[in-house]
Amino acid sequence: MSDMPKLWAGRFAKPTNALLDDFQSSIPFDQRLIQCDVMGSIAHATMLGEQGIIAKQDAEQITKGLEQILSEYHAGELTIDMGAEDVHMFVEALLTERIGEAGKRLHTGRSRNDQVALDVRMYARDACEHVSELLMTLLELLIQRSKEHLETIMPGYTHLQKAQPVTLGFHMMAYAQMIMRDIKHFENARAEADVMPLGSGALAGTTYPLNRERVAELLGFAEVTDNALDGVSDRDFLLSFLSAASICMMHLSRFCEELILWSTNEFSTAVMDDGFATGSSIMPQKKNPDACELTRGKTGRVYGDLMALLTVMKGLPLAYNKDMQEDKEAFFDAYDTLLKCLPTFTEMLRTTTFQKDEMYRSAGLGFTNATDLADYLVGKGVPFRDAHHVSGSLVGKCVKENRALCDLSLDELHEAHGAFEGDIYEAISLEACVQRRKLRGGPAGEAVLDSINRAKQWMKVHSPKS
Ligand code: ARG
Repeated sequence: MSDMPKLWAGRFAKPTNALLDDFQSSIPFDQRLIQCDVMGSIAHATMLGEQGIIAKQDAEQITKGLEQILSEYHAGELTIDMGAEDVHMFVEALLTERIGEAGKRLHTGRSRNDQVALDVRMYARDACEHVSELLMTLLELLIQRSKEHLETIMPGYTHLQKAQPVTLGFHMMAYAQMIMRDIKHFENARAEADVMPLGSGALAGTTYPLNRERVAELLGFAEVTDNALDGVSDRDFLLSFLSAASICMMHLSRFCEELILWSTNEFSTAVMDDGFATGSSIMPQKKNPDACELTRGKTGRVYGDLMALLTVMKGLPLAYNKDMQEDKEAFFDAYDTLLKCLPTFTEMLRTTTFQKDEMYRSAGLGFTNATDLADYLVGKGVPFRDAHHVSGSLVGKCVKENRALCDLSLDELHEAHGAFEGDIYEAISLEACVQRRKLRGGPAGEAVLDSINRAKQWMKVHSPKS
């Protein structure tokens, strides 16, 4: 238990029960807000001094004392009192212990309710930037790997049944689109967090002539909140972070699922680097794709964080309720999970090799060129529905005889339709199937290259610091 006095003890006739002390304390998980808390308090004290609400000398003493606390923290020299109620109480009590009277003036015109809202918003802004940077690195890798594999033909699937040939470069750029959307989601979450709530007080603003815009300016906020009740009750910016995190994890998880499949003996199209796989304690031959499996697994936990906070918030009457203290563990857990998953996933993907020959062989099976055979007939004037039927019947014949469409002789093709000519074989080659799909967004090398160039342009505008 802490020997620090409770800063709100005045109204109480006896100390809090040890069970409640332990139950309600958030310092084990909110101590990581200390930098935001100190910076926020320095800005608040500076403004109080400028406004003449407290003496300039007091503001200066507060600032010095807080800077000292922060530098000790960064140097690993600050002992955090785990018995403190939360990081805000800890910092204020420590400051007052060190500088005396002036420290007691810091909380003028402020409540812990707007203080915690401020701290979490500041932390969330940084978190969004940090995640966006990691996503940018992944995006760069996807572009690079896509360029390497513009000509690597592989089967594309629907219903996990072979559908049409595509390229690995095209597949990589599909994920690049998702990652660009993720970055936008985190940019939006950052913009939502970027609103300064101090001045909301406990719920009803304050009587002191604070300069809220000045505090916002000192802390680099784009705006100030416009309603004190909402200012202390709003955690939407965290929900936006958590939903961005959930969608991002869902994207990683889908790719992980594919890489797990591709590394199976059945697919044999991807080989994970030995540095990113693990073995079995009993089966000597095993090479398990743990990085992918854990990323897929941790997706569930991030969804859980989102659900936890949505559920915490759903029944809360305005304004602050202690339930809201539960926001932090969900937020930090999702953030920490992303900080682990993104670099691991990126490096795992960077070092994975793809079996081009096996991909090509696999793309040639399962009649992935049946649509192109129908399209060929359309080119010869046959209505698409009829062409589809002819192609389907040829596939049926091949299934029975265990052959591929390109194994059929021109006579056999003629039997199905008179419009077939010798150029059919070239028309249904895997290369032609891919290269003819050169519409914007298609798998042809030139179309994927265009999309790579657009992504590169996009990156210039969306770099986290711009
Ligand atoms: N530790 C609290 C939290 O995280 C700080 C706000 C406490 N406010 C209060 N009125 N008890 O939410």
